[in-house]
Amino acid sequence: MSATAVIGLQWGDEAKGKIVDLLTDQHEIVVRYLGGNNAGHTVKFDGKTFKLSMLPAGVLRPGVVSVIATGVVINPTALLKEIAGVKEQGIEIGDDLLISDRAHVVFPYHMAEEAIYEKQRGDKAIGTTMRGIGLCYREKANRSHAIRMGDIIRPDVLREKIPEIVDFKNIILSALDPEHKPFDAAEIIDQYVSLGEHFKPHITDTTAFLHRQIKAGKRLMFEGAQGSLLDIDHGTFPFVTSSNSSGAGIHSGSGVPERHISQMIGVVKAYTTRVGGGPCPTELLDETGQHIRDEGNEYGTVTGRPRRCGWLDAVATRYGSQVSGVDCIAVMLLDVLSKLPEVKICEAYEINGKRTEDFPSQIDDLAAAKPIYRTVPGWECDITAAKSWDDLPENAQSYVKMVSELVGVPVKIVSIGPDREQTIFLD
Ligand code: IMO
Ligand code: MG
Repeated sequence: MSATAVIGLQWGDEAKGKIVDLLTDQHEIVVRYLGGNNAGHTVKFDGKTFKLSMLPAGVLRPGVVSVIATGVVINPTALLKEIAGVKEQGIEIGDDLLISDRAHVVFPYHMAEEAIYEKQRGDKAIGTTMRGIGLCYREKANRSHAIRMGDIIRPDVLREKIPEIVDFKNIILSALDPEHKPFDAAEIIDQYVSLGEHFKPHITDTTAFLHRQIKAGKRLMFEGAQGSLLDIDHGTFPFVTSSNSSGAGIHSGSGVPERHISQMIGVVKAYTTRVGGGPCPTELLDETGQHIRDEGNEYGTVTGRPRRCGWLDAVATRYGSQVSGVDCIAVMLLDVLSKLPEVKICEAYEINGKRTEDFPSQIDDLAAAKPIYRTVPGWECDITAAKSWDDLPENAQSYVKMVSELVGVPVKIVSIGPDREQTIFLD
């Protein structure tokens, strides 16, 4: 039992990439097990910034094996681009990248259909990343028109399946959108056969691989994407992603049961952000919200959208932590709050006149929730050079302790800047 899991406890963008990168040198294998190129994981070191989307952060450490497991939905064209991008930054992707033959494949018609759905939802749009993620997962659940990575390395299978799928998609898409330009099956076959040839050396049964590694005593790390509150079953439905992005997804998305995991780290931003639609009780539509956005550079890595910002919502985060089953947390981006004279944290909600500490299961209740805050004095000084817990000003220490108390799990890591060095480990 020496596997670690890193899971976002909020609505994504908790700076999971930094934690995964930091802990990678204590692990031999890094596993991405859900989502696709809707994720944007930023890792900074040696003055370079890497923006990863489908590639596990393990690719940045020589000697570490990176696995894109069963539960990921892969856009092979985007993956090819991503690999070329990191290559330009000096990172070579060799045979230490493994891709599950069970992982499902995103096609251009998924994105086309998603655009129609989002438009049709009007002011109730989810605000998806438009990467075809939800439609690809729908195909998997529906079982009819799904293509897996194991299929794209079999040209015969593609030649048999794609024409029927593309015909079907063209009928549906033209009915939904009179301006739909039909997809060409032959073109798609050619494109994916060639992508299959390219990725063939990487595609394998990653579940069997991971179990062999566990048997050999290798240390694994599971790199979460999105966040617990975006989980399809446990998140703020329907404003969620289409997979289990809480800890619940590790087993289903990798084939490795949780009993192999000895440490589950929840990643929590020192405040709240959310991209896309859906209620966000602590969102600040004022100067303070804009201040947090500016200080935290809160603009989406995938879509460039400004993120909605607000105070830390301990009700939501506590729920995320419970659902994911984390045993400690990493508090990220604490430095972003450094200039504020006072800092707030939401400890409960008032819903229809009643106080509650429970996170509502119904979206209308969440939309009606008024945050009840605890307000504490800020620290109003630069903390980015702190080397230890003792270097942090007392008010910053008190804030971190309050986060731990309200979320209900001990804090193990505090991050005070983007760099690997700007990290404080607590005993
Ligand atoms: P990382 O891994 C933040 C959000 C989208 C949208 C909803 C559904 O960087 O933390 P989708 O395209 O998945 O169908 O969109 O989920 N979303 C994320 N928000 N960080 C992410 O990933 C996200 N991945 C999806 O903005 O609201
Ligand atoms: Mg992101």
